[in-house]
Amino acid sequence: MIAISARDITRGFDHPNGRVEVLLGVDLDVSAGEVVTISGRSGSGKSALFAVLCGFDKPDAGTVEVCGAPLAAVPAWEDCAVLPQALGLAQELTLAENVALPLRLSRQTEPSRVDDLLAELGISELADRYPQEVSYGQQQRAALARAVSVHPRVLLADEPTAHLDHASVTAVLALLRRTAGEGTAVLIATHHDEVHDIADRRLSLTNGRIT
Ligand SMILES: Nc1ncnc2c1ncn2[C@@H]1O[C@H](COP(=O)(O)OP(=O)(O)O)[C@@H](O)[C@H]1O
Ligand SMILES: [Mg+2]
Repeated sequence: MIAISARDITRGFDHPNGRVEVLLGVDLDVSAGEVVTISGRSGSGKSALFAVLCGFDKPDAGTVEVCGAPLAAVPAWEDCAVLPQALGLAQELTLAENVALPLRLSRQTEPSRVDDLLAELGISELADRYPQEVSYGQQQRAALARAVSVHPRVLLADEPTAHLDHASVTAVLALLRRTAGEGTAVLIATHHDEVHDIADRRLSLTNGRIT
């Protein structure tokens, strides 16, 4: 079953010295249970594409569907969860509260879910700290725990290992792979070979298109 599909996505941005067309007709399908990685040079538009896929940004043209339905104006995290490259943790909430937020918003009760994810990612002892009190790599793991907490249909992970040491990379990759095993469609933007190694399919974003 196709969990997320994008058709002919175009997106450009106006800059002081002219308009830059970044996405020039992106087509993409990711099935439930599949891990797909996207590589591409810095500035090739991976984060811009993810912003469109999760509804943070509107494309100039093209369509996104999640499980066969058009993407809602404000998609629920159960449908499409994201680990943004800029992480986007709520600064006024502790790490544990950040991870619990999608569960609360979707009224899911899974008693040990937050504790289990924090433990799996090695940040249990930081549960009651605020984002600015932990390292960027620790924030990144909390942001991943938040994204997978609700067992989303689609997970978009934008450079999920960018700030991590080797042991943390291993834990993050195991969690991403298991999340797919539980039925989530996992799409990952990455430059790292060890991330491509867990992929069922590898794509590249080049000159505004997927190859
Ligand atoms: N919201 C935005 N406003 C203006 N320009 C943007 C915006 N988002 C992305 N861009 C531009 O689009 C290009 C691709 O950026 P990005 O998607 O972040 O690349 P990548 O994630 O592949 O490194 C860059 O030239 C960037 O300046
Ligand atoms: Mg990026």
